[in-house]
Amino acid sequence: MILAGGYVLIDGKLQNKDVLISGDIISKIEDKIIAENEDVFDAHGCWIIPAAVDVHAHFREPGFENKATILSESRAAAKGGIATALAMPNLNPTPDCAKNLKVETDIIARDSVINIYPYGSVTKGEKGEEAADYDGLKDKVIAFTDDGRGVNNVMLLRDAMLWAKANNALICSHAEMEGYGVSAEAEYLAVMRETELARLIGCKYHFCHISTKQAFECIKSARKAGVDVTCEVTPHHLTLCKEDIRGNTNFKMNPPLRKREDMLATVGGLLDGTATMIASDHAPHAADEKNVPYDLAPNGIIGFETMLPVCYTALVKSGLATHADFLDWLVYNPAKRFNLGVNRVAAGERATLAVLDISAEHKYTADEILSKSKNSPFIGRSYYGFNRLTIINGKVIFKAI
Ligand code: DOR
Ligand code: ZN
Ligand code: ZN
Repeated sequence: MILAGGYVLIDGKLQNKDVLISGDIISKIEDKIIAENEDVFDAHGCWIIPAAVDVHAHFREPGFENKATILSESRAAAKGGIATALAMPNLNPTPDCAKNLKVETDIIARDSVINIYPYGSVTKGEKGEEAADYDGLKDKVIAFTDDGRGVNNVMLLRDAMLWAKANNALICSHAEMEGYGVSAEAEYLAVMRETELARLIGCKYHFCHISTKQAFECIKSARKAGVDVTCEVTPHHLTLCKEDIRGNTNFKMNPPLRKREDMLATVGGLLDGTATMIASDHAPHAADEKNVPYDLAPNGIIGFETMLPVCYTALVKSGLATHADFLDWLVYNPAKRFNLGVNRVAAGERATLAVLDISAEHKYTADEILSKSKNSPFIGRSYYGFNRLTIINGKVIFKAI
């Protein structure tokens, strides 16, 4: 297959090139490639990039198939230009031991059209009472988290961190201090206690979806002091705030959309390197679950299909960041932190890539959504940079019609 006339990053510059894919490899990148019997995909006006790595996603299977399945959401990820996603463990059964994990990984092996790597839970059933079977899980999971809730049993968290230190494992925190609801203080206080524990213990530690000014300040100073902590930010916390909610349950998630100054601090935290990656926190909920009064609705929004265009439009098209920053935040930094291999778009590399149309504006509509659930705050909004083609190991897994 030939991708014709797209923008490829070569020697630090975006250049207009043809890309030839032979088998599972990018075999040639040249100004003009003529080859008979090759499919040609017109990539003019598009970025050709390594497909994205999303370290935070809820696939809902096993246990919550009314919201989503591995099949439906992996297809949605493929549409979004995502080749690799990390699956959160708030499932039933919870992947807290090898036997429970196998239920999930069997479905992934059978149904997924992308690479999905599972998280193991920190506590049994994510109940915060007993440790999960870390030794039984360690070779089969990408990292450990109780996402959806904070680990508020500090002795249990400390023991998990000591184990992680001894086993070079990564713990990821949904930072939320018990007793403070979902307030900014709840996030800040949890980040404070956990950066301090990470410093004392010397383990590596990652914070999910950081969303408050104070938490960024805390993580920034911990990183400066040499603590091995990282954090991710989400497209929604980068671009939306409290005023956007207007009672619409598709704007309800945890952490919630916060003050405008927190949104700006989220952008600032990414630009100054405190946050090194962007992740979607893709969290489908069925229409009947979301179609209730705001206070009763579950937390969570879908994000696979809009992560790249929302970030492209808000960060790159706006002039705040470069193509290279975009790739660092959405491909290279998450891959590095979670020890995943990724390719570059260069001759001889594995052909795992996405083709983003940065030239045309597109309005995201409910009927194009591939996710089984439609709970997106981005419906009806227009962005540049939607994905048109996703290839994994040379195989086309999504093509826009
Ligand atoms: O918005 C959220 N949705 N935040 C979470 O912490 C959990 C997630 C979910 O599982 O729906
Ligand atoms: Zn979370
Ligand atoms: Zn989550």
